[in-house]
Amino acid sequence: MNFSISLTVNGARRDIELDDPRVTLLDLLRERLQLTGTKKGCDRGQCGACTVLVNGQRINSCLALAISHDGADVMTIEGVARGDQLHPVQAAFIAHDGMQCGFCTPGQIMSAIGLIEEGQAGDDPERVREGMSGNLCRCGAYAGITDAVLEATKNLAQSDQRRSA
Ligand code: FES
Ligand code: FES
Repeated sequence: MNFSISLTVNGARRDIELDDPRVTLLDLLRERLQLTGTKKGCDRGQCGACTVLVNGQRINSCLALAISHDGADVMTIEGVARGDQLHPVQAAFIAHDGMQCGFCTPGQIMSAIGLIEEGQAGDDPERVREGMSGNLCRCGAYAGITDAVLEATKNLAQSDQRRSA
């Protein structure tokens, strides 16, 4: 039995036929839509490599059934830059060496964008570490990641202020 679902992925509507209701959002993104920036680390909700935003909330896409997100708005790492212009969180990760091998980085960046949008990051490194604790980095790039999230939070707040002035 086939199921059809519609998602908006990085701003574009995608109509997808599923032949198995157990397909995860992660597998749909990687294997059906060829959006392989979202990584499969553990495939069991323990590493955060598969983090994407669904309706603005960060989730582990390996734990989400695609069929249960029919109609959702999904943003992946492929959708965060504006052409050649990096998202402020991406730029901050580069500026602060928030990566080594880069495997965890898409998930870290999506999680950081979600955390900042939640308004939970602030300027407290401890709160940033807590808010990012679902995203593991085998390379141990945590110091750079925390610094990047702090700087991106500050930069995004300043550009919000400039827009509203
Ligand atoms: S691959 Fe989803 S949490 Fe590890
Ligand atoms: S940069 Fe290698 S796992 Fe995080």
